[in-house]
Amino acid sequence: MAKRIPVFAANWKMNKAVADIAPYVKGLADQLSHAPAKLGEGFQVVIAPPATHLAALRQMTTTSPFEASSQNCGTAKSGAFTGEISPVVLKELGVKWSITGHSERRHVYKEDDALVYARTKCALDEGLSVIFCVGEKIEERRANQTFTVVERQLAWLKQVPQNQLPQVVIAYEPVWAIGTGENATPGQAEEVHRHIRMWVNKNLGPVTAESVRILYGGSVKAENSKDIMAEADIDGLLVGGASLDATSFASVIKNGLLSRV
Ligand code: PGA
Repeated sequence: MAKRIPVFAANWKMNKAVADIAPYVKGLADQLSHAPAKLGEGFQVVIAPPATHLAALRQMTTTSPFEASSQNCGTAKSGAFTGEISPVVLKELGVKWSITGHSERRHVYKEDDALVYARTKCALDEGLSVIFCVGEKIEERRANQTFTVVERQLAWLKQVPQNQLPQVVIAYEPVWAIGTGENATPGQAEEVHRHIRMWVNKNLGPVTAESVRILYGGSVKAENSKDIMAEADIDGLLVGGASLDATSFASVIKNGLLSRV
């Protein structure tokens, strides 16, 4: 069975100052030196600050295994696209990842499935890895539409060429659990993760189903990361609020890893 290396991603959203990066990176590195696995080998850590902070983050992580991620990606390499982020420049900065389809982009900024896919494709074409987010709203869950919504969002991945599929990480983030303090129970999360892996098996093939990492996100904190990571189809965490403080993010990671060693 392919070993899926756990990924822990910090989504800072529109928080923190550039001046906060140095103490954060140092604090996180210090605390993860006591983690139950080796950073960069036994697990990966991805930090997604605001785009305005990426150059500074990269400068401060040139010699550390922390990987930088954008929170979104433009739909073209360059051009008349005011306010967008070029994947070419992300590459130039040494940024390895982009989040795409985060629920705040989908629901606050009304990015539809086609736009999310255009962003995803542009990032993949430039060689970036993506954290492709899916998840249902509370009214959709109540109407038993969770699998339907997630499958509709995932369907776009059928267009990704086989050779780019290893660049894709999927994040299941139920919208009702994001920033609300109300996390999905490990069982609720695993039910959807298992379904996503089955969908991947059917639509993208068994090799991808075995190797693709599926992260959970939505009110993850140090108190629940161990139980969530204990589930068979959960391969990492996408963490918002609890990632803003280095000590708290390190605790999320260390507790999560306890389920894996
Ligand atoms: P949260 O955010 O951990 O604050 O719920 C997660 C996310 O939006 O990625």
